[in-house]
Amino acid sequence: PCARSGGRQRTLAMIKPDAAASEEEIVALAHRHGLRVVARRRLNLSPAEVRLFYREHRARPFFPSLVSFMTSGPVVALVLEGEDAVPAWRELMGPTNSQTARAVARASIRAQYGTDGQRNAVHGSDSPCSAQREVSFFFGARSLVPIQLRLIFDRM
Ligand code: PPS
Repeated sequence: PCARSGGRQRTLAMIKPDAAASEEEIVALAHRHGLRVVARRRLNLSPAEVRLFYREHRARPFFPSLVSFMTSGPVVALVLEGEDAVPAWRELMGPTNSQTARAVARASIRAQYGTDGQRNAVHGSDSPCSAQREVSFFFGARSLVPIQLRLIFDRM
């Protein structure tokens, strides 16, 4: 069912540490683009939590640097709901690298609030299935379980 696209969707948006100070402006932008905030949480991620959240990138050369950046300050996790929320939020974010974003999508969030490929202001789920997984990462009952136990559960 999470593979269904189109219609009303939910996505997980995250404002990264480099843009956390612009939380209200970014939330206002989402709102203006028809995305409603259904859940919101400001928190500091531990290195273990970042490694778990970005585990599909664990073999990439930038992974250690991504972990230090993502633990350098607070992040804001948001559940956004609206028509085609997954692609709509990714469109509003712009390209991954903020320098590219400034060249091809000047009005995007990454163009306005980010710096480069690492300090790129925001994250968004890349599919309805990732959205389901990422929403429960931040807002599911399991997110109340300590990270060390979650790493064990994930192997069961
Ligand atoms: S994508 O959309 O998955 O193809 O983008 P990708 O380039 O694979 O990047 C995946 C996430 O890793 C971050 N990233 C980096 N972090 C640090 N340094 C470098 N050089 C770097 N390149 C990419 C990138 O911001 C993506 O994070 P999210 O949160 O998913 O946007």
